[in-house]
Amino acid sequence: MTDTELLEAAEKAMENAYAPYSGFKVGAALLCKDGRVFTGCNVENSSYGASNCAERTAVFKAVSEGYKDLEAIAIVSSGKEETFPCGICRQVLGEFAPDIRIILRKKDGSPSVYKFSDIMPHHFSLKK
Ligand code: THU
Repeated sequence: MTDTELLEAAEKAMENAYAPYSGFKVGAALLCKDGRVFTGCNVENSSYGASNCAERTAVFKAVSEGYKDLEAIAIVSSGKEETFPCGICRQVLGEFAPDIRIILRKKDGSPSVYKFSDIMPHHFSLKK
């Protein structure tokens, strides 16, 4: 699957975003190493802290189905600029895939790619 195809899957997932409070829709598509794709959207709640981001929706869907080998994640939003994953989602991605590729959508629609370590160096890891 190409980066552009993964962005398209994220855009489709964004159609299901439930964002009546922020009005900011997000979609994510997570590519596993075996080629399987899990998508997610943000799901808000009237108790704001109970809301979930698109990226974590996708990661939790994958992991709960037994898929932890993650290759890339594409993220799109209803905003005009590239939308980077929030800090909590970066920490969640780092748990499973500290080498995951992050694919964002530039203003002109083309993909921009980041290494996880570029956007989240030194993520927390519980070493006892
Ligand atoms: N949001 C995401 O889905 N992913 C992010 O990485 C940042 C923010 C959502 C959460 C909330 O529903 C809305 O965007 C505004 O913060």
